[in-house]
Amino acid sequence: MRLKIVLAMALLVFPALSGAEADDREHYHRPATIPFPADNPYSLPKATLGKMLFFEPRLSAGTNITCMSCHNPSLGWESGQARAVGTTGQPTGRKSPTTLNLAWTEPLFWDGRATNLEEQARGPIEHPVEMNMAMEDVIARLAEVDAYVEMFDAAFPDEGMTDETILKTIATFERTLVSGLAPFDRWVEGEEDAISDSAKRGFELFNGKAHCADCHTGWNFTDDLFHDIGLPTDDIGREGVTGTPADRFAFKTPGLRDIALRKPYMHNGMMTTLDVVIRHYAGGGMPRDSLSPLMRPFTVSEEEIRDMVAFLNSLSGEGQTVALPTLPN
Ligand code: HEC
Ligand code: HEC
Repeated sequence: MRLKIVLAMALLVFPALSGAEADDREHYHRPATIPFPADNPYSLPKATLGKMLFFEPRLSAGTNITCMSCHNPSLGWESGQARAVGTTGQPTGRKSPTTLNLAWTEPLFWDGRATNLEEQARGPIEHPVEMNMAMEDVIARLAEVDAYVEMFDAAFPDEGMTDETILKTIATFERTLVSGLAPFDRWVEGEEDAISDSAKRGFELFNGKAHCADCHTGWNFTDDLFHDIGLPTDDIGREGVTGTPADRFAFKTPGLRDIALRKPYMHNGMMTTLDVVIRHYAGGGMPRDSLSPLMRPFTVSEEEIRDMVAFLNSLSGEGQTVALPTLPN
């Protein structure tokens, strides 16, 4: 195929840095390009259609919600709620995760039950609590709109509008959602004043005694693995997919980009501030068989908590605006 899967991590050399700090910073460079799969390479017509569908109420049974209702750009592409509300007014079972930086993340969902974004997109459309639409009904509705038929024919000359091509457009648009350049990124690239001394100390704690980087690794701060971090919950998480008791209460490590915008926190939205999150980790979580061995309690002062929050706040992209698409009638 024309497009190869490229995941080019920028390899830059910083002779000016020294010591442990230099080593840690090197693990956090932003990738230079977005990877697209060979069986669904990027094209502008696809991404444009996918964006329209992401903001398209016709995808929901009641034409009353869109993907954006639960993945809102102003809220770090989440909903701001512990449980968002679907087309029939019922709450979802888990918190909406962000749709940022998913080009680099597989599998999808808190429990990893979808292997890729194409497969994932069918989930919310068909789920009775979310949009509650059969794919054939989505096609029937969109096919009534001449502009959509024409755009699908142009984007997929051999196939036109089908289940598969609809899902491919949404996945293509989602892969273009990359968190914006943050003060932290400028600091990683060598701009020493880009973040405060407090945030720098927080970064050291994050990589050091707090052990956050054991799971929140790399530029998007996730290992894409599943861990039980010892939260009080009835949700068995990953065990529901694998059937393995060791996976009980384990959820996918979320990336931490734009985390300040993504309140409340955790799969059940049970924490409303980052300092509560840090205190949870310092305590080590509920002891139980499935608790991750990477959960290691640590002592932390109020000042250290402030430093870590300052660091987490430095991960928010600056000056990004998202223009709404114009939908056809
Ligand atoms: C009513 C709220 C709601 C709507 C509408 C909704 N989602 Fe979601 N979305 C969620 C929730 C809740 C989850 C997590 C579910 C889980 O993991 O079990 C989720 C998960 C996801 C994920 C997985 C992210 C990850 O990190 O694994 C993606 C991608 C996604 N949604 C995209 C979409 C798209 C595309 C649409 C529109 C077609 C959409 N969502 C509509 C609430 C919603
Ligand atoms: C053992 C692996 C592991 C370690 C260590 C770890 N995390 Fe997490 N983190 C996770 C997982 C898994 C979740 C999701 C848990 C859930 O919702 O049940 C998570 C969730 C979060 C969230 C909420 C994200 C969201 O989208 O709601 C934040 C913020 C966070 N971690 C920050 C930290 C910080 C700060 C540290 C260090 C003090 C840390 N984590 C240490 C694995 C880890």
